[in-house]
Amino acid sequence: MQALKGFKDILPDEAVLWQQVESTAREVFRRFGFEEIKVPILEKTALFARSIGEATDIVEKEMYTFTDRNGESLTMRPEGTATVLRAFIEHAMHLRRPINRLFTVGPMFRHERPQKGRLRQFHQVSVEALGADSPRLDAEVIAMAHQLLVELGLKAELQLNSLGCPECRPGHRQKLVAFLNRHREQLCQDCQRRVESNPLRVLDCKSANCRQLNAEAPAILDSLCRPCEDHLTLVRRDLEALEVPYSLNPFMVRGLDYYTRTTFELLTDALGAQSAVGAGGRYDGLVRQLGGPDLPGIGFAMGIERLVLLLQEQNGTPLPGPDLFLACLGEPAADYGFTLLQQCRLAGLSALMDVQGRGLKSQMKQADRLNSRFVLIIGDEELAAGQAVLRNLTTGEEHRVALNDQLGDLLQTVGGADGAGT
Ligand code: HAM
Repeated sequence: MQALKGFKDILPDEAVLWQQVESTAREVFRRFGFEEIKVPILEKTALFARSIGEATDIVEKEMYTFTDRNGESLTMRPEGTATVLRAFIEHAMHLRRPINRLFTVGPMFRHERPQKGRLRQFHQVSVEALGADSPRLDAEVIAMAHQLLVELGLKAELQLNSLGCPECRPGHRQKLVAFLNRHREQLCQDCQRRVESNPLRVLDCKSANCRQLNAEAPAILDSLCRPCEDHLTLVRRDLEALEVPYSLNPFMVRGLDYYTRTTFELLTDALGAQSAVGAGGRYDGLVRQLGGPDLPGIGFAMGIERLVLLLQEQNGTPLPGPDLFLACLGEPAADYGFTLLQQCRLAGLSALMDVQGRGLKSQMKQADRLNSRFVLIIGDEELAAGQAVLRNLTTGEEHRVALNDQLGDLLQTVGGADGAGT
């Protein structure tokens, strides 16, 4: 039996990097006042159709949708925003705080063609700030996305755009449709269809002809109404004040229909065709559209698989092993070692020992293969003298430590190296 195409097992070596991504994200989000919300994976199909948009690729052809035993159409969530907003509305969370800063971490499902960095089950850290339309909130949220990458030691280019609002978008749409109709024969088949159903998406088409044409298409930035233009100016001013580097990309459109005004993407050229590590934007009409109060919001999501790939490519894979491996010679030493192992673990060290009665050489090999930081070698004689030899496997240094109830020497040396232990 094999995993489904586009569904991936995360083995322990890689899971370490996932933990790094998730714990860094939690720490950065905490500092920006974001709280975790946990939401279901399965929702009514209508939630996604109404929020992401009927004419988007996601809703048209990528959702895992099925009819359950009660005859109801359900969908495995393809993204987090719609679900978090459903929960926000259902629990009247706007009464809880004036601005709800929420994040969620978990799997999403899209039936796309799998390739490097693109899966059918992938994972996002997904962030939503609900309740304010201030451009300052946009800058804060974007700065937080930037900070997460900085703290992971990753580089990505931040691109910014504005998609306008219901006031100015129709004017742009009209100009765009007129332009596309003038050049209809140059468009790919899909885009010819999109001219009516979703003309903005044409700007995002990857086919060579459409791309060439799109470079000359009317940009929404040139059609923004005054309030949208002011909003963008203030977001840019705040990003500059926070020294968050960005560039404007007037042709950026997003694959989800709910965006208004600010949109942004974090791009890298290290992932082949899958260049976005994260993306997001403002969605001021969405809460109301889903039946909630008329409250604005902004958010973003980052793909954990893509962050992990970048970590692997930029830093190689660090394989942290246990703090300590106990190598014991003879049965009394092994019996003593087993209780010492427990003491070490209770004191906060990660510690392992052989449980199969192997010889010293093979135990040392095991310690090496596990990438243990230290080995404590306990022989019967050392045990009788109340001592053991502690070897640092990185430097090769050795010294004798006293075996007593406090384990002071041992914990100080092993725990002191990276703050673990005592
Ligand atoms: P999105 O652009 O569809 O936005 O996805 C955000 C990120 O999820 C992408 O930049 C990428 O890193 C990752 N991602 C998307 N699809 C895949 C896939 N098939 N395989 C691996 N990674 C993938 C959203 O989902 C919005 N809900 C973001 C948002 C939150 N906007 C406002 N709030």
